[in-house]
Amino acid sequence: AAIVEHTFNVEDVIVNRLCRDRTITTVNGSLPGPTLLVQEGDTVIIHVINNSPYNMTIHWHGITQMMSAWADGPEYVTQCPVVPGNRYTYKFNVTEQEGTLWWHAHISFLRETVHGAIVIRPRAGRTYPFPKPYKEYPLIFGEWWNTNIVDASNEAQAIGVAPVDSDAYTINGQPGDLYNCSSDHTTRFRVIRGKTYLFRIVNAALNSQLFFKIADHKFTVVAVDAAYVNPYVTDVVVIAPGQTADVLLKADQKPGLYYMAARPYLSGPVVPNNSTTTAILAYKGADESSTPKMPVLPVNDTTIAFKFYSELTRLVTSRFWAGVPSKVDEDYFVTIGVGLIACENPGTCQGPFGQRLGASMNNVSLELPSKISLLEAFVQNVDGVFTTDFPKQPPVIFDYTNPNISFDPATMFTSKSTNIIKVKYNSTVQMVLQNQVTLAQESHPMHLHGVNFLVLAQGFGNYNASEDSKKFNLVNPQERNTIAVPTAGWAVIRFRAINPGVWFMHCHLEPHVPWGLATAIIVENGPTPDTSLPPPPSDFPKC
Ligand code: C2O
Repeated sequence: AAIVEHTFNVEDVIVNRLCRDRTITTVNGSLPGPTLLVQEGDTVIIHVINNSPYNMTIHWHGITQMMSAWADGPEYVTQCPVVPGNRYTYKFNVTEQEGTLWWHAHISFLRETVHGAIVIRPRAGRTYPFPKPYKEYPLIFGEWWNTNIVDASNEAQAIGVAPVDSDAYTINGQPGDLYNCSSDHTTRFRVIRGKTYLFRIVNAALNSQLFFKIADHKFTVVAVDAAYVNPYVTDVVVIAPGQTADVLLKADQKPGLYYMAARPYLSGPVVPNNSTTTAILAYKGADESSTPKMPVLPVNDTTIAFKFYSELTRLVTSRFWAGVPSKVDEDYFVTIGVGLIACENPGTCQGPFGQRLGASMNNVSLELPSKISLLEAFVQNVDGVFTTDFPKQPPVIFDYTNPNISFDPATMFTSKSTNIIKVKYNSTVQMVLQNQVTLAQESHPMHLHGVNFLVLAQGFGNYNASEDSKKFNLVNPQERNTIAVPTAGWAVIRFRAINPGVWFMHCHLEPHVPWGLATAIIVENGPTPDTSLPPPPSDFPKC
């Protein structure tokens, strides 16, 4: 195993997109930022130097951070921000994971432009559980604003409303030629007929799940969230913010140009940016000036999204499959949704009914501390920062998916607190995630730091324990770090708490985090030194 060491210089640069110049925050001046290329078993050392005008933290999305919670990155969960002019070195091992993950800023809306891929290949002497591709390409979906969305979202948050919609989606930082002034801002992926390519797809968009297709081509999905799946052939990939998908593509068509296109799967009532981003699959020998063939993308089709999301299964003959823990120690039923928070100074809030938008898990809208991280407060036994009696059931039981009861004040209001979950080392946690209708229904991509979970079942309507537990896949459930809980539906996840620390769990739709659609799970130390979290590194940022 090697040591992979990089310097991430966080700096502002000016780029031109959609007919205008804009200042954006980047790592090393590029959008997307550098790809981190490692082999399983490597140690990663990243020196983050913050030369931007913003507070910064970097999160290594999907890396389990076994025994290295201090390097996880979410602001005020595991660390205080790296202030402008300061630096922090993230150090962690990449173990028992292969595939594609990604890194991103985990503070305000900065991940719009501060993100990049993490490519984890098998260690020396090991191979992929599929034929070696001719070439590999990272393919990162992003979302672009003409305005400075970091400032705009802070202003929206102050008055309790949703931030403005984005202006484009992007592929590797480029919107593609269906947008104005973008014919030179279109990514071309070059292929040779007869060869097979591995596309390492990341959805770094802030607001939207995406449908992705390539005209006349099919994909074979071989991994999601850096866990191998049974090869799954499909002509459409559905990917939620936070998720990754490794897909093989055989260049088996007539040499030519083919559009690779993505547009949102809008599962809810809000119609944000509904535009289409494109790249071009360009065969060797094609007429480079011909018009590429366009695929037909689904339009808000929940059936297609659910089919893709629910048919994937874990490849259990591959490395790192640990089986399904059978005995559940901690059982949670958690409602998730967007509602309202009462305005603290009536007249100053501009959300629905003059209140502010809020979101919650079991009606707890998570409020993060601002002077210390949860992890430091836990390790140093600082009182008064958080409580650990997060409810195991929602406080109000109702028909969660009945659209006729949205806007009912009895279910719509939540309140802020720092009430989180605490579990013992090595306990098995099961969580039913139930979308609730409150303001409206949509699919929330729920992400858990610090461990992968198994998705035992998912479905529509209200979860019914006696019926739906019969549908659990206890043989080869997909393993993920981010689950798009079906709109007007539910998903059941299970994991073993074997990594001491404080682990953020949140919706990966960016506005929902400051609204409170989040919690944190404290995993206590185990009985031995090697199952206990070591102390923080000496350069750990102070508040
Ligand atoms: Cu990709 Cu907590 O995030």
